[in-house]
Amino acid sequence: MGENLSLRRLRQSPAIRDLTREVFVDRRRLIQPHFAVEGIREREPVPGLTGVFRETPDSLLRQVETDLESGAEKLLLFGVPGAKATRAFNFDYTAGQIAALRKRFGKDLWIAVDVCLCSATAHGQCGIVSNDGDHVENAATVAELARAALTYAQAGADCVAPSDMMDGRIRSIREILDANRLERTLLMSYSAKFNSKFYGPFRAAADSAPKGDLQLKDRATYQIDPARPTDALASSRRDAEEGADILMVKPGMPYLDILAKLSKEIEKPWAVYEVSGEFAAIELMAAQGLVQGPAAHVESWTAFFRAGASMVITYGARYAKEWLKECL
Ligand code: PBG
Repeated sequence: MGENLSLRRLRQSPAIRDLTREVFVDRRRLIQPHFAVEGIREREPVPGLTGVFRETPDSLLRQVETDLESGAEKLLLFGVPGAKATRAFNFDYTAGQIAALRKRFGKDLWIAVDVCLCSATAHGQCGIVSNDGDHVENAATVAELARAALTYAQAGADCVAPSDMMDGRIRSIREILDANRLERTLLMSYSAKFNSKFYGPFRAAADSAPKGDLQLKDRATYQIDPARPTDALASSRRDAEEGADILMVKPGMPYLDILAKLSKEIEKPWAVYEVSGEFAAIELMAAQGLVQGPAAHVESWTAFFRAGASMVITYGARYAKEWLKECL
């Protein structure tokens, strides 16, 4: 009697594992975030996010040039203006960075831009706060977001990506884009964005942590509660109906159940955001010798595609070529 190898027969060699794999990570499906920060003299590393910097206008162009050489030609830009406001925001700094990227790299680069107010306010909330400081005003915030999206699209963005979680912003943004002959600009909605603790390193990089003496201390009144999966479904359905081209789940790893379910239910391209805290967790373990960094990153990306993502926003996009060569 031989040994029973009913399932292990297909696992016995790299060749047969290659031939039977069902999910592939392709670097063409990854998007690299960048932070463009006004008023710093030199670029500054972001703690936890190896190889990611708060960039100056010059260093941003240099970094993107290097990224293009390593095959990371799709980016998500976060503009961090120097002057903070409470209403009537000025979006020119971020628009200027978009225009500079477009001018330098032309259509070689695919530029998505995050649309939110948290980096532009002193209190770090994602919108306009009521005078008594106890809530974010929806309509007034949506009007500013639509104006930001229009400014970024006019500056040359391929895609605008609102991450604020106000109600009705997708419809308002689509309308203002269409009214200004920007019907080709893509709209990616952070439609299933949860009120997560995994955004820590990002908030340091983007000056966007809630702060000050407002009654509002966090984002619980607009981001989705981690224990409300039905809210994520409703939000994504609504955003698809309002005109979003791409939907998103964020964070990634702790919300794979959401991604798997929603991507089956709603037939749109799904993005997933491997957020700063998840990315940093792997980097910190790797620095302690507890995991092999590249292999652990590739395993996380594999999980996202397996769960139904068609694209992944990850701080490691610029290393994908190298890591995939090492790990597959
Ligand atoms: C802005 C925004 C956040 C992220 C993307 N856009 C942070 C937040 O909601 O506080 C998080 C990204 C990350 O952690 O990598 N609203």
